[in-house]
Amino acid sequence: MAQLIAEVSRTFNEFLLLPNRTRTDCSAATVDLSTPLSRYTADEAPAVELRSPFTSAIMQAVSTPDLAIALARNGGLSFLHHNQPVEDQAAAVRRVKNGAGAGPSEGDGRHPGRLVDAAGRLRVGAGINTHDYRERVPALLEAGVDALCFDSSDGYSDWQAQALTWVKKHHPEIPVGGGNVVDGEAFTFLAEAGADFVKVGVGGGSICITRDQKGIGRGQASAVLDVAAARDAFRERTGAYVPICSDGGLVHDYHVALALAMGADFVMMGRFFARFDQAAGAKVATRDGFVKEYWGEGSNRARNWQRYGQGGRELVFEEGVDGFVPYAGDLTEGLALTVAKLRTTMVSCGSTTLPEFRSTARLTLVSDQSFQESHANVDLRTTPATAS
Ligand code: IMP
Repeated sequence: MAQLIAEVSRTFNEFLLLPNRTRTDCSAATVDLSTPLSRYTADEAPAVELRSPFTSAIMQAVSTPDLAIALARNGGLSFLHHNQPVEDQAAAVRRVKNGAGAGPSEGDGRHPGRLVDAAGRLRVGAGINTHDYRERVPALLEAGVDALCFDSSDGYSDWQAQALTWVKKHHPEIPVGGGNVVDGEAFTFLAEAGADFVKVGVGGGSICITRDQKGIGRGQASAVLDVAAARDAFRERTGAYVPICSDGGLVHDYHVALALAMGADFVMMGRFFARFDQAAGAKVATRDGFVKEYWGEGSNRARNWQRYGQGGRELVFEEGVDGFVPYAGDLTEGLALTVAKLRTTMVSCGSTTLPEFRSTARLTLVSDQSFQESHANVDLRTTPATAS
């Protein structure tokens, strides 16, 4: 008989954080946003540590070399998409490592929070798949990639475990993530197969219609809470801490704070980054202002060969849509605003580090009525009606 999970599947909009006591030494300036990207133990530090808990989605519409450069300059990491020939993806990695990201421009103090390798070059990640990893991984390593991540809408599979085992056996030095998963059982499966981090989220993405089409997925808050508990249990049992990433469905800035409070070590976002100049989508003028194109990897437009099946024929059905997001200008300015909000939330919750934030956070469920109360409840029109 099918197993029925009694808990309701919940998402970020259903929660709020309670303020905790804020000590005098806790201020936006003292908040440290650094966080491990990859597995570590008491004896071994993580191979890569982010300076800011943001990564950009493994998507054609999002993670271009330009965006990777801009994000690494702000302490985060992009995963360049893999829906392109191996040599093109390797060239994109080189462009970040050796192009605009290298030399005088990175050392001149303009980007003090930048994420760099031991040689002072910007860090960059790359998406990989369970089909051609034997060729793709060595080429990406040769190009200087800093981290890899398997890209799958359902990572709880023998294929992914076999591929993870192969990468860890042949290239143990490179951090490699697995996913996506939505429960503790699947997390433990991938962690045991060697994943250095695990991505969480099925069906919550802004361009995603997986739940409508296949009936598969889980509310992102429930998924993160469940997987975070499994990560902590795995560390208890093995001594290895395997970070988790909350991927997709972060619509409002405060959702980032909620994901991190619920246990995510870092977040991955598509829609958020697709709005910026550096993302791939065209900027389009509309009557209401500018928008940028943003399409899912499971949409027909993506022509994602992984999902397309043999011969590049049309998809049997789509799992993603092709749409638009509001244009938001330059990444550095847009991300700074989101980071400022995150720091302020952490201060209200009395935390100066992300581990402290998630271990002390107090979350409450909100009713429909209290959700209404959260929004402005005045008339926001600025032009008074003329007297008759
Ligand atoms: P967003 O930040 O809400 O836009 O979600 C981005 C995430 O959605 C990505 O990191 C992927 O995990 C996921 N995703 C990307 N393309 C598709 C698709 O076509 N269908 C379903 N999920 C997708």
